Amino acid sequence: MSSKKPDSRTPLISGNWKMNHNHFEAIQTIQKLAYALNPEDYDHVDVSVHPPFTDLRSVQTVLQADEVPISLGAQNCHWETSGAFTGEISPAMLAKLDVSYVIVGHSERRELFGETDEIVNRKLKAVLAAGMTPILCVGETLDERQAGAAEAKVDGQIAGSLAGVKADVVAAMVVAYEPIWAIGTGETATSSDAQQMCAHIRSRVADTWGADTAGSLRIQYGGSVKPSNAPELMSQPDIDGALVGGASLVADDFARIVNYRLYQA
Ligand code: PGA
Repeated sequence: MSSKKPDSRTPLISGNWKMNHNHFEAIQTIQKLAYALNPEDYDHVDVSVHPPFTDLRSVQTVLQADEVPISLGAQNCHWETSGAFTGEISPAMLAKLDVSYVIVGHSERRELFGETDEIVNRKLKAVLAAGMTPILCVGETLDERQAGAAEAKVDGQIAGSLAGVKADVVAAMVVAYEPIWAIGTGETATSSDAQQMCAHIRSRVADTWGADTAGSLRIQYGGSVKPSNAPELMSQPDIDGALVGGASLVADDFARIVNYRLYQA
């Protein structure tokens, strides 16, 4: 299933800062980004930034004071609201900081911190219960792709991570397809490979939750997105946004990705 993008799927360009930028650097970066973007740029895209937890309050303060229409995002959270979970941050705490989007199931969380689909599912439901939007990451390793198992891996992640989530809720969510071999490697999936998997995800979602839900769901591509490849990736019919790591750390690069439409053929 591949469709022309409906207007409801406003592109979402998200910057995942990972474990980069202390709160001073974060303030500088968000100020530069706000300066690099014009008010009309936000008419075409939604923009979110996902700083480390220690930067959230600082970035929130800048966005609020300057009335910058960039959404605040987080990179992870726990599934409980409060309690004896040393070192964890709850969805309620993030919501209180005006966080709108929370990345769940990033491949680095899955691979380096042992997050299973079951854990991701719990986190995703907790994010929703706190009134925020999850950005659910899925994607295959290089071995899985070479073995022809990429779609099966992604199907399993979708089914497990979204288990028990209702259609109208899935419709308003974001899924990020991030092939693990393309993250931080400089290797990007070709735009047609990326399109193919995003279309596949949409059709799997249609099978389980219906065509309307699949038609509304925003699907991002992530993995070495740069100013140079964003225009072509974003021109694909089933790619509704980008989850950007490395290139989101430099305000001017990220602003060029946000403004990909100005560079489209
Ligand atoms: P990258 O990271 O853009 O540095 O490849 C993407 C991501 O991990 O979300």
